[in-house]
Amino acid sequence: MTRKLLVAGNWKLNGSITMTNDLIVEIISGLPSSKNFDVAVFPPSIYIPQTANLVGGVVLFGGQTLSEHDQGAYTGEVSGSMLKEFGCQMVLVGHSERRAYYNESNQDIALKFQAALKHGLKPVLCCGETLEQRESRVTEKVVAEQINAVIDLVGIKAFANAVIAYEPVWAIGTGVTASSEQAQTVHAFIRSLLTLKSDTIAPLVPILYGGSVKGSNAKELFSMQDIDGGLIGGASLTSEDFLAICQQADKLSQ
Ligand code: PGA
Repeated sequence: MTRKLLVAGNWKLNGSITMTNDLIVEIISGLPSSKNFDVAVFPPSIYIPQTANLVGGVVLFGGQTLSEHDQGAYTGEVSGSMLKEFGCQMVLVGHSERRAYYNESNQDIALKFQAALKHGLKPVLCCGETLEQRESRVTEKVVAEQINAVIDLVGIKAFANAVIAYEPVWAIGTGVTASSEQAQTVHAFIRSLLTLKSDTIAPLVPILYGGSVKGSNAKELFSMQDIDGGLIGGASLTSEDFLAICQQADKLSQ
């Protein structure tokens, strides 16, 4: 089963009108003219209309989170239909920073995943353990609970139109990357979890790795059997760093 690699940049709370313009223009001009892998960016939602005008169909884009509600008195929120209206194809759901700083539970995240699908957005479901959880050897239990909460609500078939991102919390923004073997072990576990529910859906689901991915480690990570690309934070903020990762994906996609 060959799954297309996806290199996705999560800008988090970074950006400006100038940065959005320069970064996207530079990414597009630096990508190989015919590429066999996908590239996506997740800017802060206020820069999504600007992003939509710049990408020219070359780069996919989406929101960093969405409300589980369609509309109503929910101050500060952005709905799936609003993201869709501005052309988003995807949306991040359950990033560890949302879980940690905004108290999003597995159930909240399942509802957001469901809302994304309802509005025709491909959810990128983020999961991963903290350092404490890894040291107490509950990584698989934690990741299984995070993913099963979503499967329990929407069913396994919904994953035919979804992406999973495994992002160990201890590797996010720390400069410490999981080794390719450590990452592959968890990716294979996630794939086996999906296989238990459906052996036809499981091979279709792209599973990205996230956590201090750089040009220097992308090739080793992305060449593992169950690693289908990366969700990139820090190294998605300059075109030089992001394109260095895209170049590795390109080499593996020839
Ligand atoms: P990082 O972030 O690449 O800066 O570690 C990854 C993420 O949080 O998606």
